[in-house]
Amino acid sequence: MALTTITPRVKGKVSLCMESKAPPCAMVVFGASGDLTRRKLLTGFFELAKRGLLDERMYILGCGRTHYSDDEFRAVAKESITKKTDMPDGDLDKFLQRLHYVSGDYKDPKFYEDIKKALSGADAQHFQPGPYIFYLALPPELFPVVLEHIGCSGLKAPDQRPLSRIVVEKPFGHDYNSAVELNKLIRSHVGESQIYRIDHYLAKETVQNILIFRFANSIFEPVWNRNYIDHVQITIAESIGVEHRAGYYDTAGALRDIFQNHMLQVLSLIGMEPPASFEADRIRDEKVKLFRSIRPIETAKVVRGQYIEGIVKDKTVPGYRQEPGVRPDSNIETYAAAKLYIDNWRWKGVPFYLRTGKRLSRQVSEIAITFKQVPHLLFESSGIGKLDPTVLVIEIQPNEGISLSFQAKSPGAKTCISQLSMAFTYKDVFKADLPDAYERVLLDCMSGDQTLFTRTEDVEIAWQLLEPVLEKWASDGDKGLEFYPAGSDNFAIADVLMQTDDRLWRPI
Ligand code: BG6
Repeated sequence: MALTTITPRVKGKVSLCMESKAPPCAMVVFGASGDLTRRKLLTGFFELAKRGLLDERMYILGCGRTHYSDDEFRAVAKESITKKTDMPDGDLDKFLQRLHYVSGDYKDPKFYEDIKKALSGADAQHFQPGPYIFYLALPPELFPVVLEHIGCSGLKAPDQRPLSRIVVEKPFGHDYNSAVELNKLIRSHVGESQIYRIDHYLAKETVQNILIFRFANSIFEPVWNRNYIDHVQITIAESIGVEHRAGYYDTAGALRDIFQNHMLQVLSLIGMEPPASFEADRIRDEKVKLFRSIRPIETAKVVRGQYIEGIVKDKTVPGYRQEPGVRPDSNIETYAAAKLYIDNWRWKGVPFYLRTGKRLSRQVSEIAITFKQVPHLLFESSGIGKLDPTVLVIEIQPNEGISLSFQAKSPGAKTCISQLSMAFTYKDVFKADLPDAYERVLLDCMSGDQTLFTRTEDVEIAWQLLEPVLEKWASDGDKGLEFYPAGSDNFAIADVLMQTDDRLWRPI
């Protein structure tokens, strides 16, 4: 298949995007000695500082169980940051001065008194007048106790400051009831406009681009419906396994870990109607409308699998049940696929096939929109059979970009038709690495922009949609759980969803 690259004409055109510095704030990170803080948050803040997007007065107060002094915390931060990012001279040392640390027991009221004191000391030192943002980078079982203490200790409503905000990492609940309870709990302390529920997928450049692609170009919207689209496939494939997260993953599985949040959020951006404006709540209204139009999922149209020992990138890797921390008889799914329908005027009858899995042959996340065949084939008399349909692929990662395949005449005296592709990748065009999604998440919660965060309704409806499947799988145990060797490069388990429809999964 020949490949044509269309290079956008960016030369001489003023960029339509401007990053603006976040106003001052104190970022209070609970779980500061944990993995997420080290891998994502500290590096994310440092990248923002490098780009001049942190206010001079902004500081970070790490709170955790591990005992560190400020300097020890700075040393940990330095090590994590230098592992991942280039460091212009002097920038890192300056950044580290923004870091402070308090240790304690999450259940002990004294911890929160210590945090209060540390905040008032650091506010004075940095002349910081902005709000406190409480970032819960914690295991979910600690959310209630920490929220209760933030609420009762007076931390959340300090005198003469803008309203505090709460940032919550996923998983947001374990099922519908626990998500409702958690929402109630948070909302008993703060209003919806103060809650930032993170789905980092929404902050990926390519995911944000979905709305721009759909609504900043006039040519796609007229064909973005059941009249022209045959079906949609959304794939989130990973080559990594459960890594060091068995404690969480072995109670979650692919449906809770990816479908309930990342997958359904991506689906909502592909499927939603144009919002009235680009404001957070107008976009979120449309997502909720879309979720409400999803036909209750037939449990038979959702399949699951678990990886066994296999070879990934030339290395033998253990099966899921042999991973450290996983129960040896675990029936948690590391792979799930589903077929669903959106019952509204735009999408009636168009199947959406969704699949995700760990330990597949490679990492790829993409949305593929397959258009319908032309209504009448003119070329049969030339011996040309069925043509491949036009497919628009939005690759979320790792080769971020968009491609559109179409039919064209191959040069020569005879009528020969080839499938070509117009493609652009961010790397080729913008010549820079894309920022990590966490940088955008952090910037937006400091700037008070909730567009990329999920609202009470989204979270609850998403759980509601999956509830029948979760219940069935819980009662089925091992029944229906298929096994696939690590490193598999197709989703054979999921073929059953396609076979009756005479369609094929795209290769990963
Ligand atoms: C997380 C899931 O939300 O997303 C992980 O808990 C998954 O299991 C990860 O690996 C994928 O996101 P990314 O950005 O690393 O591709």
